[in-house]
Amino acid sequence: MSPVTTFAALRTPAVLIERPRLDANIRQMQAAATAAGIRLRPHAKTHKSPLVARRQIEAGAVGICCAKLGEAEVFAAAGISDIRLPYPLQPSNADRVLALQRTARLSFIVDDLRVARGWSEAMQAANARAEVLVKVDVGFHRCGIAAAPATAVPFLREVAALPGLRLAGILSHAGHAYHAHSEEELRGMAEAERATMAQLAREARGEGLTIDEVSAGATPPARFSLAVGGGTFTEFRPGNYVYFDRTMMGLGAATLDDCALSVLATVVSAPAPDRVVLDCGSKTLAADGARGFAGVTGHGAVLRELTATAGQHADPHLIVERLSEEHATVRVTPGARPLGPGDRVRVVPNHACVVSNLVDSAWLVDGPEIVGVLPIDARGRIQ
Ligand SMILES: Cc1ncc(COP(=O)(O)O)c(C=O)c1O
Repeated sequence: MSPVTTFAALRTPAVLIERPRLDANIRQMQAAATAAGIRLRPHAKTHKSPLVARRQIEAGAVGICCAKLGEAEVFAAAGISDIRLPYPLQPSNADRVLALQRTARLSFIVDDLRVARGWSEAMQAANARAEVLVKVDVGFHRCGIAAAPATAVPFLREVAALPGLRLAGILSHAGHAYHAHSEEELRGMAEAERATMAQLAREARGEGLTIDEVSAGATPPARFSLAVGGGTFTEFRPGNYVYFDRTMMGLGAATLDDCALSVLATVVSAPAPDRVVLDCGSKTLAADGARGFAGVTGHGAVLRELTATAGQHADPHLIVERLSEEHATVRVTPGARPLGPGDRVRVVPNHACVVSNLVDSAWLVDGPEIVGVLPIDARGRIQ
């Protein structure tokens, strides 16, 4: 990116990160975790940037999470030395795990004994040891073993006994919280996750197993999980909170003022009084639909004020109704301030994590000032 100092000089679509908000989000989540006596280990999937990871660690995080080894390789090369992958890695990647272990403390999850045995063999063959956590399904029904202690404790015992592995603990992710229909339901999901993990940890420890870590983490239930989780959870792994987004607004986890990431876009066509087209399509905004019980619709919140830092409002007259790859078709309802070709807006996307995966770098802004470039070094590292 060439040196640019004003919004007007930015080419669009451009991803903007509001630096004071990023800093505030990092500070506030860290403060909530610290107050609860829970270590914070943010998931780096949202920012994919060593620069942001360093800010999180400077603020008190004990390390980071990544989903993929390719991301972990970028962060380890940048000096991040404690990385957890809450992702079911396959033993075919043993060479990469062994290489990463030279520069970082690495851990990952298992939820299948065949896979755990494969890791055990691979680690023994290399005269090495892998730190693993057992993933527990607390209701999302993606990965993870069933939480019932009657079957989960024997599973933990088998993993703990495998040579070449060290069982560090148990790990959950309340991804179903994204589908909560109300604040109360969300609160209930957080409490149920805590109770499930507390019971399993208690019973496993009661049978003599060492469970050092009880790890949970997601941004939607964070406000409840951190309030009730002290004494159960040893660490929390939220990712999205660094930027927040429209989904988090829909789930009551953030306001528009908390959202640090937006897309600066230009009107490239205004073919009808009730329609304008922006230059940010699904290749910039990503196609994720709006989620949350607040009933938001469309593909993003459109802001007319380009340089606002706080107290901003989404324009209710502009609805991002449809995305093509390079076009966002916006319905303009009566009462809208006129908008024509060349005009610019900011769009807060439904899902910030996928937006930062789509660009090599973002602009760091502070109100009207462009204060730097944020390289997104781990973007696209999907293997
Ligand atoms: C296993 C796991 N842990 C933590 C997170 C972070 O969740 P969020 O982005 O809601 O904060 C994710 C997100 O996908 C995840 O998959």
